[in-house]
Amino acid sequence: MTFVGPHLEVGRTRIQSRPSPHQVTLRRTLPRLPASLANATFDAQARQLTPARNSRWVSLAAAVWFVGFGVVGCSANQNGTTVFVGTPPMGWSSWNALGCAVTESAVRANADVLVSSGMAALGYQFVNIDDCWMATHRGGDGRLVADPVRFPSGIKAIADYVHGKGLKLGIYAAAGTATCQNLPGSLDHEQIDAATFAEWGVDLLKYDNCNDAGRPARARFEVMAKALAATGRSIIYSVCEWGDNFPWTWARAAGAHSWRTYGDISDNWQSFTSIVDRQVGLEAYSGPGGWNDPDMLEIGNGGMTSEEYRAQMSLWALLNAPLIAGNDLRSMSAETRNILTNPAVIAVDQDWSGSQGRRIAVTGLSEVWAKPMKGGSAALVLFNRDAHAVQITASAPSIGLSQASVYGIRDLWTGDRRISPADISELVPSHGVKMLLVSPP
Ligand code: GLA
Repeated sequence: MTFVGPHLEVGRTRIQSRPSPHQVTLRRTLPRLPASLANATFDAQARQLTPARNSRWVSLAAAVWFVGFGVVGCSANQNGTTVFVGTPPMGWSSWNALGCAVTESAVRANADVLVSSGMAALGYQFVNIDDCWMATHRGGDGRLVADPVRFPSGIKAIADYVHGKGLKLGIYAAAGTATCQNLPGSLDHEQIDAATFAEWGVDLLKYDNCNDAGRPARARFEVMAKALAATGRSIIYSVCEWGDNFPWTWARAAGAHSWRTYGDISDNWQSFTSIVDRQVGLEAYSGPGGWNDPDMLEIGNGGMTSEEYRAQMSLWALLNAPLIAGNDLRSMSAETRNILTNPAVIAVDQDWSGSQGRRIAVTGLSEVWAKPMKGGSAALVLFNRDAHAVQITASAPSIGLSQASVYGIRDLWTGDRRISPADISELVPSHGVKMLLVSPP
């Protein structure tokens, strides 16, 4: 079955256009060990992955894979990457709310709110400066330079500032001759740019895909992975290739810790649901070390209802997606904050129990999504795309739980608890979800 949906809107301040995303063939496969781990061993002392030598070690690697890791550890893959990202990264990015209006004072202020709102304590660690931080030309020494008007203190000063708050700094560059906003690209400047980012104290690089000069994607992204590894600094590598060349099949081996699975999200229902459709079948590729990235959150940006934003938060958590808030935290409402900071929903995102969530069933505009959780329970999202409330039912065995007469149910948005028979049924609001934790007796 091939799914062809409407194209997403491009970023609101985009100058450079880019090719339409490819069609994605839907697959229904059981989760399996990613190739990089299937062919690797795990050295517990060195916390390093090295090529497999015998099957005993492959079994150990598989066991470690299913047990899961802390957020960031050290390991190495074939590109010498020295970072292991054990749970989906969380943080904030300037792009969705600020676009090219980003400034250093806005970045500092958003970092302040990450801490004061309690988001940082819940895991939102990264402060990601997206496109438009750089000046229009490289310096005389060939290095990227911060825009002197928007970032007069330079990037190192901001890195020091966010580090002083216990946060981490992410930055943006492009695997092309120019960024998507036509600022200097990093293609053929990978070593000097990676070294510059490391010297500034950058902790994450989002590497974009505009202006590719007709050169193959994997090679362009791999060069930067090697350059980052060569700096010796632990820098998380977030590949933003839009899913055009099926990066879920190669980005992990190429040194990425996450890879965008589709085009840019926009702050509307159509865009959000189109991205959801593109995640079906990708569950086999994500997991500790490398994560499918359906793009940033739009929660709080004003183009969707609270129900719709709760749906995005719920599905992103179920997908073990990076949770990167895309709103201007300085002006967020209490409701937006509540959606972004629901600890039970965040816990689903950060829980690894062998598979990201996947779509189990579709009936008309009603969908059932589920994922296994540590301890033998399952997270369940009943998703209603219809224009009116709909009763949606999922059977406990269909979401991977063994047959029993009753199950414990916790509604992760209301906190309500109840006992349910094996057919779990809820009235789900229009364009909304019910997100439940289902526990066997
Ligand atoms: C691309 C990316 C977006 C954003 C913009 C910035 O469109 O996919 O996430 O980084 O570039 O120009």
